[in-house]
Amino acid sequence: MSKALINTFSEKLIAWHARSGRSGLPWQGNRDPYAVWVSEIMLQQTQVATVLERYPRFMKRFPTVKKLASAHIDEVLAEWAGLGYYSRARNLHDCAQQVVKEFAGQFPSDPILLEQLKGIGRSTAGAIAAFAFHVKAPILDANVKRILARLFAVEGPLQDKAVNDRLWQLAGQLLPAKAKDMPVYTQALMDFGATWCTARKPVCLDNEKKCPYEKQCQANLSDQVLSLPHKTLKAKSPEFDCDMLLVRSGNFILLQKRPSKAIWGGLWSLPESVWITKSTPKKSIPRLQNLFAAALPEEGATPWLKACKVVKAGPQIKHVFTHRRLWMQIWHVNAPKLVEPQSSNLKWVPLSQLGRYGLPQPIKVLLQGLSLVRGDDLKN
Ligand code: ADE
Repeated sequence: MSKALINTFSEKLIAWHARSGRSGLPWQGNRDPYAVWVSEIMLQQTQVATVLERYPRFMKRFPTVKKLASAHIDEVLAEWAGLGYYSRARNLHDCAQQVVKEFAGQFPSDPILLEQLKGIGRSTAGAIAAFAFHVKAPILDANVKRILARLFAVEGPLQDKAVNDRLWQLAGQLLPAKAKDMPVYTQALMDFGATWCTARKPVCLDNEKKCPYEKQCQANLSDQVLSLPHKTLKAKSPEFDCDMLLVRSGNFILLQKRPSKAIWGGLWSLPESVWITKSTPKKSIPRLQNLFAAALPEEGATPWLKACKVVKAGPQIKHVFTHRRLWMQIWHVNAPKLVEPQSSNLKWVPLSQLGRYGLPQPIKVLLQGLSLVRGDDLKN
């Protein structure tokens, strides 16, 4: 039974794609490895609708791997702002430099070599090799894992090495016979997972669409579609509090560059205190000196900082990351004089130039919401 499925899988999938797959996306039909790579990285954790808007803009700004490699990381982060998971942007920049230095500006076609580049995992390496070079390399992202776990009733949590190995083995066996079919096959697999064999509403559970594998899919035949792949229970993500200073001096705002390894690494943000585990009941209002000492320790007791006053407490903003939740208490601070800060990671930025800086999304929204800046100022 599963042999027949393995032998017919790719043909059926390609036929399905001709009828029901996604077409006309700006990154489709492009064999330029650079363009393929950028689109695959952007699509990793970002919705297609957002990528549709941002991908052409990124390509216009950095049209070649050389242009990206020679850009300043701040420009790349500013262009990436709002897409989240900023390590992708830092890796993109590092990877572009690697390709220029180690591969004379040409992406390799071998997935093993691609996987050695910064930010490219095994599945993304397979996708780039398939789309750009027609190499017969499998992909195995979360959607594909779900399809295969269902079709072949692969039991056990996806994190288990044995399960993962089995899925990679299947992914390799299912590839089409002809290398020229790799781009359409790979896109079809992605589309099938994203639109038909979905996690919560797979088409086999409603009567409107007919899944091409309904008679072969082991999960469908054994009524396990919604329970496969097996899930591992996730602990609730921990919650943290921090204070953030919105320091203004006339039309200038004080920004702080975040350390590159931290969350929002390398982006410019508001100076903030270290995160502490969220406390209940609510903590009391901090003293001014403590706030400054916590958020701007490098500035010590400089006179400019001493002259600053907290004007009022601003909103408390909640931001949910993949593995943690953060509550940011904003404090509006007025600096009477615009004095150059001591530390090089602090900078006074005119409100009208905020668009040149990559800001974390909630900070961008906060500044827009406070009408400190017009929407335009935050665009590039
Ligand atoms: N997600 C990752 N790669 C994709 C692609 N090429 N098309 C649609 N969604 C994707």
